Amino acid sequence: MDALGELPLRGLLRGPREVLFGAGTRASVPAATARLGRRALVVTDPRLGADRATGQLVDGLRAAGLAVAVHDRAAPELPVEDGAALAEEARRHGADVLVGFGGGSCMDLAKVVAVLLAHGGTPQDYYGEDRVPGPVAPVVAVPTTAGTGSEVTPVAVVTDAERATKVGISSRHLVPHTAVVDPELAITCPPSVTAAAGADALAHCVEAFTAVRRRVDELDGARVFVGRGVLTDHWALLGVRHVARHLRRCVEVPDDLEARSGMALAALAGGMAFGTAGTAGAHAVQYPVGALTRTPHGTGVGLLLPYVMAFVAPVVGDRLREVAEALGVPEAQRTGPDAGSVRAVADLVAAIGIPRTLAELGVGADDLPALAAASMSARRLVENSPRELDEAAALRLLRAAHAGDLAVDGQEVGAASGDTEGAA
Ligand SMILES: NC(=O)c1ccc[n+]([C@@H]2O[C@H](COP(=O)([O-])OP(=O)(O)OC[C@H]3O[C@@H](n4cnc5c(N)ncnc54)[C@H](O)[C@@H]3O)[C@@H](O)[C@H]2O)c1
Ligand SMILES: [Fe+2]
Repeated sequence: MDALGELPLRGLLRGPREVLFGAGTRASVPAATARLGRRALVVTDPRLGADRATGQLVDGLRAAGLAVAVHDRAAPELPVEDGAALAEEARRHGADVLVGFGGGSCMDLAKVVAVLLAHGGTPQDYYGEDRVPGPVAPVVAVPTTAGTGSEVTPVAVVTDAERATKVGISSRHLVPHTAVVDPELAITCPPSVTAAAGADALAHCVEAFTAVRRRVDELDGARVFVGRGVLTDHWALLGVRHVARHLRRCVEVPDDLEARSGMALAALAGGMAFGTAGTAGAHAVQYPVGALTRTPHGTGVGLLLPYVMAFVAPVVGDRLREVAEALGVPEAQRTGPDAGSVRAVADLVAAIGIPRTLAELGVGADDLPALAAASMSARRLVENSPRELDEAAALRLLRAAHAGDLAVDGQEVGAASGDTEGAA
């Protein structure tokens, strides 16, 4: 029996009420927004605020009868204090619907404001899992990067300078009401943004597919991220296949719409997979690494992913064989406990310009113990690892990633992958 058919079959899946996908679908945002409210706040960032697409969106919203305010100062990696300030602005406008237009930073800021509009307080009041007491203001999420999957997920991730790490607000109420995924919007992404976002999408898929498997009575409790299941597995593999086929092309030929569509689908699929299954080690360790090095989330998780895969290989072997197949690793190269998937991911990530080691990212050897300790703080991620990830294990992982040693814990990893581009 293949890993996808783990018996007994069980799973949980959550997502938006509506997901619209395809080139040109951004024209539907005004009508979708007008169905949800009368006064819209568009949350975007300075780069996108100056873009023609934003002007067209705002004109369309006004033509649909909405009173529109625009916040175009969302900052990358979302500093937490911006949430409370923008909620004030939203209240002054009388906003009853949010449009998150941009990358993960803009969509997550819209989600945080939606929580504060409905329930008051500050973002800090909702840190952790399941602390949002009820439904929030409706969000229409329109991604302009292909990576985070935030358009369909129940989490907003903020940077809290007081905590030296990133922090999540996770609640089923945070899933946007409507996601509109228009691949044309990502065509203007520069290669570095495309690469980081794409690596994030790959990490979502692989970590969701290899997450812990929980009992059926654990699926519907206070935990927002419940581990792998039969309803998320197919999304995860769909995402891996599309990343393998399209990510390099998006970096190399930014205006290739077919490749952009493939990556937009991969990111959406990654969000559908991890939005219920959750992510694990690569995300747990990236949070403090990102805070220390001030590097984008996707760069860190992409760099860390192959090391984390090597770490979990002894307990998820069959699953990594499926990942290898989805990546297009030729059968003859599906060797070792990881079936060649570790090197395939390491090579793919390096091919799009992401550093191979933490040393290259600016992490010093002396930083590693503190990073290992801080990696433990996101319990939802640590507890989702299929192999126990305690502080000592995190330190071994960090040392391996610092040195560029894929054989984490001295484990054998499969043969060189060769070029998997276009093979899946
Ligand atoms: N909520 C979730 O489910 C989830 C999941 C993963 C990551 N995240 C969070 O999302 C954030 C990262 O989001 P991201 O990777 O989308 O990047 P981002 O939103 O931080 O944007 C990165 C840069 O790309 C630019 N950009 C975005 N779209 C563009 C376009 N179409 N053309 C040109 N430039 C464009 C932005 O202006 C910005 O300068 C992090 O804070 C991360 O922690 C959230
Ligand atoms: Fe991520």
